[in-house]
Amino acid sequence: MYYIGIDLGTSAVKLLLMEGNGKIANVVSKEYPLYFPHPGWSEQKPEDWFAQTMEGLAELLNGFDKEQVAGISFGGQMHGLVILDAEDNVIRPAILWNDGRTWEENDYLNQVIGKENLSKYTANISFTGFTAPKILWVKNKEPENFARIAKIMLPKDYLAYKLTGVHCTDPSDASGMLLFDVKNRCWSKEMCEICSVKEEQLAGIYESYEVVGTLLPEIAEKLGLSAEVKVAAGAGDNAAAAVGTGTVGEGCCNLSLGTSGTVFISSENFGVDKYNALHAFAHADGHYHLMGCMLSAASCNEWWMDDIIGTEEYAKEQAAIDKLGENHVYFLPYLMGERSPHNDPDARGTFIGMTMDTSRADMTQAVLEGVAFALRDSFEVAKSLGIAIERTKICGGGAKSPLWKKIIANVLNIKVDVIESEEGPGYGGAILAAVACGEYASVKDAADKLVKVVDTVEPTPELAAKYEERYQQFKQIYPTVKALFPKLK
Ligand code: XUL
Repeated sequence: MYYIGIDLGTSAVKLLLMEGNGKIANVVSKEYPLYFPHPGWSEQKPEDWFAQTMEGLAELLNGFDKEQVAGISFGGQMHGLVILDAEDNVIRPAILWNDGRTWEENDYLNQVIGKENLSKYTANISFTGFTAPKILWVKNKEPENFARIAKIMLPKDYLAYKLTGVHCTDPSDASGMLLFDVKNRCWSKEMCEICSVKEEQLAGIYESYEVVGTLLPEIAEKLGLSAEVKVAAGAGDNAAAAVGTGTVGEGCCNLSLGTSGTVFISSENFGVDKYNALHAFAHADGHYHLMGCMLSAASCNEWWMDDIIGTEEYAKEQAAIDKLGENHVYFLPYLMGERSPHNDPDARGTFIGMTMDTSRADMTQAVLEGVAFALRDSFEVAKSLGIAIERTKICGGGAKSPLWKKIIANVLNIKVDVIESEEGPGYGGAILAAVACGEYASVKDAADKLVKVVDTVEPTPELAAKYEERYQQFKQIYPTVKALFPKLK
């Protein structure tokens, strides 16, 4: 049988066709625009997601036996606010996970409602990109839109709704709304009241590996699929990526180098870090995880390559880098503000340390290193909680670069296990569909059987020591320039 994983990303939707034995049969990617209507704002049109998903599905299945398709599931960009009216019209463009407009509502939640209460109700504090402050923003700034809301959904759940007609979500993605009681895997009554949300506006909760419904007849017909094809709830992209990289069970780690950068640590048990610097979210296997999230990771490199130096030849630019651990140029990767660990929507990208002999390669290197140092910031928080991490998996577009993996292994001073495919969320989505259809007994069973490590990048003591010194310098830059950022508007 075939299983389809739909990774609803920020730059594109990536669709993956997996055979029951885990072999990837086909992968298709379809892009859509990302809108920045004001500095720090970030929006997309849910209609674009659905249109590109439908086109992508047709392309993905072209030439394959459609009768063999048994299930579909998702990994989706988290936290985005999608609102529908009573006739199922999308009320306004989705406000995305990396949008920083809600700083006032964020302050209200953290300071007036209070971090302690938020943590008690949801296991998390507020960040500008989370969904609850966005709902408050719509209430405060667009009351006419707020009054029309019949359904509130997350990005991948909009796709599930269009495919099945079922308003559903899963605990891993719901965790990032700040409306969800993570420990008890249910909506928080207190948070609904604080945000003026009625429970009937929210989705039904299904575990990521549970079937929510089957394809609507008109969708099945359009795609040439059976209306018996099952759709499983799926997961937020990081939890789905963790499934796709086998990051399931106690104390496993996955790094994702996509538009965002995340450090994901799986756990059998619920736990919260007492400063709430890491997100305490549900995992897609029925358990939990802690996660640090930086808002711009591989996107920093794309910005530098595509928009600034104007090249598509990433490998050629990286081949010119020959001074690992000795760069005097530093880059703060805060092009969309920063989430973990600074929680600062005003933070901005910064190059520092250039001299007349600084080369293009030094600047490119600084971008790759800056992202690695910022990942280390989240990693340090995990270490301070007593979590010992000796190795990690890695996925996402940035994980294609051997140089970047080497830099990360040495900056974090841990072994980086490379798996067969870097398609984390898409592969994880397909695995969740396979579990939902009964092909595997559990998410852990499927991940253990399907995910194969093909290479390990090991740090070397000399380079790790050089990067340790560099990281100590990097760490001092943000606190030194922080006060300037709000004045740079
Ligand atoms: C996680 C987060 C990002 C998005 C990116 O908290 O905001 O990783 O899910 O798609």
